[in-house]
Amino acid sequence: MRSHTTFRQLEIFEAIARLGSFTRASEELFLTQPTVSMQMKKLTEAVGVPLITQVGKKIHLTPDGQHLAQATREIFSTLDRFTMSVAERQGLKQGRLSLVAITTASYFAPRLLGEFSRLYPGIDVSLRVTNKEQVLASIADGLDDLYFVGQPPEDIDVVATPIMDNPIAVLAAPDHPLARRKRIPLERIAAEPWLMREKGSGTRNAIERTFTGHGLNIHPRLELGSNEAIKQAILAGLGISALSLHALALNQPGQFAVLDVEHFPILRHWYAVYPAGRQLSVVARAFLDYLLAREEIAPLPPSGKRPARAKA
Ligand code: PGA
Repeated sequence: MRSHTTFRQLEIFEAIARLGSFTRASEELFLTQPTVSMQMKKLTEAVGVPLITQVGKKIHLTPDGQHLAQATREIFSTLDRFTMSVAERQGLKQGRLSLVAITTASYFAPRLLGEFSRLYPGIDVSLRVTNKEQVLASIADGLDDLYFVGQPPEDIDVVATPIMDNPIAVLAAPDHPLARRKRIPLERIAAEPWLMREKGSGTRNAIERTFTGHGLNIHPRLELGSNEAIKQAILAGLGISALSLHALALNQPGQFAVLDVEHFPILRHWYAVYPAGRQLSVVARAFLDYLLAREEIAPLPPSGKRPARAKA
C-alpha cells in the first residue's frame, strides 16, 4: 500500500472520515469534488479493500476504513508534534524575552535570568525594574512578555502563576533589645518606630493589612523609597521594618536580626503574570516552564533557618 498511497490521499480520507461528506471535505481542503473522488478511488485501489460505503448521500466507514482513519489521525498528530518541536527549537535558538519586575523582585529576577540565559544563549533578554504603578501600566499596555509582581492586579484580567515564596519578616539591627525576645506580640511591635516603604509599595500594603487586620495601626517614623535605604536606616538604629527576606539575599548572615513577631513572617508569593487571552511566545513559554521546573530559590533568614509559616 505504501508505495502507491500519497500523503495527500490520506489527508483527503481523514477529512471525509471526520466530516462524513465528500462535499465538506473538498471545501475544507480547497479541492474540487472530482479531485476528491479520484484520490479516494486511487487510495481504495492502493489499499485493496473498501474503505467507505455510500448509501444515498450518507457516508459510512467500513471496519477497515475505521482502522485507517485511526492510523491517519495518529500519523497527523505525530507529525504535528514533530513540526511544533522543530519550531520551538528554532524559536529558542534566537528570540527576545522582555520582562518587567516590581522593585523587590529585582533581588531574584536577575539570578533566574542568568540561569535561563546560560541554557539559551541566543535569546536576548531585557529586564526592567520599576515601581508598582509603572508595572501596572505596563501590564495594561501588554508590550512585554512577563511581569513579576508580589500581588496580581485586581482590575486587569491576567493569568498569574505563583513562582516562589515571598516571606516578609520584621527586621531590626542585631543589637536591638527585641532581637532575642520570643513571640513578640503585635501590639508591642506596633509601638516601635517603623521605617516604611513609600505608599503604594506591595510590601507596605502587606504590612499595613496585617496590622489593621488585628485592629492596630503603625505610624511610620520615616518613609523611604527603597529596600536598600530601609536596610541602611535599620542598621543606623533609626527603627525597625519588615521586608521580603529576598531583600537580604546579598547580606551577610547575622547582619540583621529577624524578630520573632506574632503573625510574621507574612507569607506571600511572587507571581509571573501576563494579560489573559495573550498567546505567550515560544521563548516566554519556555521561560515560564523553566521557572516552574527549577529548584526553589529559598529566601533564608540570616540565621540560616527557614522562617516559620504564618498566614498572609
Ligand atoms: P514592592 O512590591 O517592591 O512595591 O514592595 C513587592 C511586593 O508586592 O511584594
